[in-house]
Amino acid sequence: MREAKSVIVKPARNILGSLRVPGDKSISHRYAMLAALASGRSRFENFSPGADCASTLKCVRALGCTVERDAQGTVSIDGLGPQLQAPSEPLDCGNSGSTMRMLAGIVAGQPFTSEMIGDDSLSRRPMKRIIDPLTRMGAEIRSADGGCAPLRIKGKKLHGIEYQVPVASAQVKTSLLFAGLLAEGQTTVEEPSRTRDHGEMALRAFGAIVDRQRNAVSIQGGQTLHPLEASIPGDISSAAFFLCAAAIFAESNLVIDGVLLNPTRSALLDVLTAMGSRISMVRVEEQHGELVGTITLVPGVGQAVTIEGALTALLIDELPVLAAIAPFTAGGLEVRDAGELRVKESDRLGAVTQNLKAMAAQVEQIADGWRIPGGQKLHGGNIQSFGDHRIAMAFAIAALRAEGETRIQDSQCVAISYPSFFQDLERLVER
Ligand code: S3P
Repeated sequence: MREAKSVIVKPARNILGSLRVPGDKSISHRYAMLAALASGRSRFENFSPGADCASTLKCVRALGCTVERDAQGTVSIDGLGPQLQAPSEPLDCGNSGSTMRMLAGIVAGQPFTSEMIGDDSLSRRPMKRIIDPLTRMGAEIRSADGGCAPLRIKGKKLHGIEYQVPVASAQVKTSLLFAGLLAEGQTTVEEPSRTRDHGEMALRAFGAIVDRQRNAVSIQGGQTLHPLEASIPGDISSAAFFLCAAAIFAESNLVIDGVLLNPTRSALLDVLTAMGSRISMVRVEEQHGELVGTITLVPGVGQAVTIEGALTALLIDELPVLAAIAPFTAGGLEVRDAGELRVKESDRLGAVTQNLKAMAAQVEQIADGWRIPGGQKLHGGNIQSFGDHRIAMAFAIAALRAEGETRIQDSQCVAISYPSFFQDLERLVER
């Protein structure tokens, strides 16, 4: 059992300075998994220092690859090619849904049986979304009641399928593309709305051909991967906390260097702009298909904003922090179509509502989102993180504009994606 810690966050005057955020979590997972399937040594600078990506590395090691991480955070992985080694113990995915869902696609195509386990939170999250299509591809998968972990995956020689993903999920899409790489024939995955495309980009970066026609992505099985040397861009979902913090203080000035600007991840910049912030991007370049650059934000949160439909899916990880700053905007925020938030690391719909209320905010929780009026004054409160990194970080940001101190319970969970979050926040905050 982890020892639960708490931190106190005091009100601030503004956010000032420049920052580099840790390497992107989504890309780190995918690069590590594909490095395992490439023949030879891959090397990744700025690999995510979070516990989730450490879970992926641990699993990759358990599947027979040599994995090293140096003091600068550079990770080297000696891949084995398409056939990995049978693990001698269960693959422990910790808190990481990405690890379990995406790696399931790889172990489903291996000639051995793998057991995948996770912590209490992960063991409550839905896995049927990958069990069903991977079973159609030929794998044999047993789960606990309700289609949850632990999973026992008997790998098979898979065959390609055409699959329409019922819920927009980049993890499911990526899992099936990874399985499709190891399958016979072609696999086509069609998503209901566009989700982050790092799976496709990563496969291409390792040398595979991936085709996209509108919302359908196809891969031909049996392609071989070559190793990759890359520097992983800063995680825009981590940068989101500081961008939202800077947006709500009139005197802020924030620069974030080397951050991921992939259009399927950067919708937050459009939302902050629609609210009234001025955002500029400079030094934009492409690295292995991913856009990277420097963002500058001049604050402003005047206009009311509604997030719904396809935009909700693109912003799924940024919704907690947008909701946490919504009371401080002039126009407020309405979020719809966000039922998926109920099955993240915590029930994020309920967690945000409870914590906003703990800070005396008005919030109306609707079936699949919230209505949060603007122009509110909040007071410091006692925040429950529910062990969910994004809830802890979102309310650390709300706390900066509250009257009085806020205590964030179980705050060490920020280490899932951003171990140095509170140190970086203190460095940028002016009091
Ligand atoms: C992720 C996809 C999203 C997101 C998660 C990371 C990914 O999950 O919430 O943090 O890297 O593909 P879903 O696929 O469940 O929407």
